[in-house]
This record gives sequence, C-alpha cells and structure tokens, in this order.
Amino acid sequence: MTTANISTISTSSDSCHTLFVCKTCASVWQDGKRLGESGGQKLLQQLQGLAQNWHLRDEFPIQEVECMSACNRSCVVAFAASGKITYLFGDLAVDDSASAVLECASQYYSKPDGLLPWSERPEALKKGILAKIPPIPLN
Ligand code: FES
Repeated sequence: MTTANISTISTSSDSCHTLFVCKTCASVWQDGKRLGESGGQKLLQQLQGLAQNWHLRDEFPIQEVECMSACNRSCVVAFAASGKITYLFGDLAVDDSASAVLECASQYYSKPDGLLPWSERPEALKKGILAKIPPIPLN
C-alpha cells in the first residue's frame, strides 16, 4: 500500500514560515563521493539542536534542502513565508552561526513584511546576504 508523503509544512495550518538550510554546503568531494559530513549538515544539526528550545520551533520549521545554487558562498540558509520578503544568506560559519540564524529568524517572524534591516541583524548575518526577494502580492 502506498501512502502519500505530505510535507509537514503544508499540513501545519499556522506554519507558513520556513527556515531552509542547505545540507550540501561545504562538502569535500573525492571521486564523486562526499567525504564525511558536510559543513551544511553540521550547521543543520546545530540548528535542529538549538531549535528544540526555540520558542518558535513549531511556527518556523527547519527544512533541509540539497542546494540553493549559492554553493560558492557556503553555508547557506533562507527565510521564507507567505506575504513576506524571502532572504537568502550565505558565508555562514559552520560552527559559529546557528544561534545568530535563529535570532534573525525570530526577528523575521516578528515583522509583518519580514524586513530585516542591516543594523538590526545579528553580526553573522550582516554580511553575506545573497538575495532579498519581494513577497508575492496577496490577493
Ligand atoms: S551546495 Fe549549498 S547552495 Fe549549493
């Protein structure tokens, strides 16, 4: 019997926010195979660990992705939500940015349009912004 594997994002009615984390960033490859754990996987694990005690863990799920086409700017994360600006951040240190990412995600969550002014962002996310995409107009 086949069951539909529906994304947890679409089944959570009040959870339109998503923190995308590239798990392939900062990989070391040899003969077409990845050696060990990638930097992206390490960052993802740190974020998932910290998010256990994050007050927004249910409203702002973390979703791992294979690649966001910013591979030469690893590590890479993105914030997205319906009706809000979408942000793509790169150049994140593997071992030193998880708490800043969640802090910035909290700021993003609290803003109706998601706008993250440079002066308010945590230090680790002040540089390395790769994209700021306007929201799709709501009907
Ligand atoms: S490998 Fe992370 S953005 Fe491509």
